[in-house]
Amino acid sequence: MNVYQGTLLIGSNRPIGRAEAMESHCPWDNTLLWQGAAASKDQIDEAVAAARQALPGWLETDRARIAADFAALLKTRAEEMARIIAMETSRPLWETRTEVASMIAKLNYSLTAQSQRRAETRVNTGDATAITRFKPHGAAAVFGPFNMPGHLPNGHIIPALLAGNTVIFKPSEKTPHTGEFMCRLWQEAGLPAGVLNLVQGGSAAGGALANHADIDAIFFTGSVTTGQALMRLQTRFPHRMLALEMGGNNPLVVFDCSNHRAAAYTALTSAFLTAGQRCTCARRLIVGPADIAIIPELASMAQRLRIGGPLDTPEPFIGALISSRAANDVLAAQDRLLAAGGADILKAVAVTDHPAALSPGIIDVTDVRNRPDAEIFGPLLQVIRVEDFPSAINEANNTRFGLSASLLTDRRERFEQFFRHVHAGVINWNRPTNGASSALPFGGVGISGNHRPGGAWAADYCSYPIASMETEKLTMPEKTAPGVF
Ligand code: NAD
Ligand code: SIN
Repeated sequence: MNVYQGTLLIGSNRPIGRAEAMESHCPWDNTLLWQGAAASKDQIDEAVAAARQALPGWLETDRARIAADFAALLKTRAEEMARIIAMETSRPLWETRTEVASMIAKLNYSLTAQSQRRAETRVNTGDATAITRFKPHGAAAVFGPFNMPGHLPNGHIIPALLAGNTVIFKPSEKTPHTGEFMCRLWQEAGLPAGVLNLVQGGSAAGGALANHADIDAIFFTGSVTTGQALMRLQTRFPHRMLALEMGGNNPLVVFDCSNHRAAAYTALTSAFLTAGQRCTCARRLIVGPADIAIIPELASMAQRLRIGGPLDTPEPFIGALISSRAANDVLAAQDRLLAAGGADILKAVAVTDHPAALSPGIIDVTDVRNRPDAEIFGPLLQVIRVEDFPSAINEANNTRFGLSASLLTDRRERFEQFFRHVHAGVINWNRPTNGASSALPFGGVGISGNHRPGGAWAADYCSYPIASMETEKLTMPEKTAPGVF
């Protein structure tokens, strides 16, 4: 087990002082994985100063080559990375291997996006050339969530570095080991000192970093509550780029879908993958009258799901939630829905001897009035039965969030209508609500985002356009302006 300090200046390998102690444990069995310390205010100042100082040199560096070296190194260390994520998040190894594969693939997606979306363009205006080019913002703070602690920060860091920004990265306080391992790989890949700076800690360290006057951009993935706090800071720092990727209360609609088994399976993976801890997980299953039979089919599959430790064989579908507190929050939300008139189709319960683990829950909330519009970040699915398709669309839109939405139907015209009227940044047909493709933009509308989609579009928020009018030689015009002699 390694013990590291709160802040690591990548490249210099110089620990700078100690602050509040931190530990990371496996949520499944409480194994101690990592010990370290949260960054102090002075350490954060030092990390930001290092990032600023590294900016000019980074612009002169072959950034794509270093990023390629990082991706190659990650490929050779993929199993190690997948195991660290699995242990730290209590997700099964098969699933975290897919996360690491996405991290490796991110480089090529980012290079393509950079060349397609940020390419230099030239227009000959007759007496000059009008050129659009792009510049990085400067020192960017990246905030990561706990649920996919490799892929999601990596989805900001790679395009940010390629564009020429330097980065101060604060992983979730629940996944410091993953954050550190990832940064060590960048260090091994030869990243110059100060280009990527790791700052550990929770909301205090995050707040100090976000409030730092020398930060030029914030790339955030996490909850709406934290995202809104960052948005409030914009009144003090209106010049900053702020990209927010937040949660959802995502609808999965089943209407006129003949393959009930496939629909039940798709609902199961949409709702319960990662124990329901994906921002794109389906929270609400909206079912038309001809499709009601999927509900018992889904309940029967959900009841038989294998739940287990991250490295168990045979492999489980899900592990524990990130903490027993998170599991208790889900159970409390379930109790509130039941007290408000919900009917339990399958009640989520704590798994014996594993207080952070829950079995999946399915509650019929059709008769609950004033249903809370909140993201319940765990394996709890709310079922809403509807009579007709317009009601299904109204229910899908009955939320302030707008991250992902999906329709399972045999009928193309139903999907076209759904696509036209549903408010979300991801709208799928006969696919789960989650498992977002890295080839596409990824971001939400409503309170799920601020119109700065990431995924393949992250290149857009990592730089800004510069307009230049250029000629090789300065000459007098044939005709001067009126009044000039
Ligand atoms: P969180 O908001 O609690 O934390 C995210 C990051 O922000 C962490 O690094 C945390 O330490 C930091 N932070 C917390 N308070 C802060 C403050 N006041 N100032 C600055 N930073 C602060 O989120 P989480 O619980 O780690 O992640 C789960 C949430 O993330 C869910 O809501 C989920 O839907 C969302 N999420 C969204 C996406 C997306 O791309 N849309 C992807 C994954 C997760
Ligand atoms: C997430 O970012 O939480 C989920 C990505 C996905 O599975 O869609």
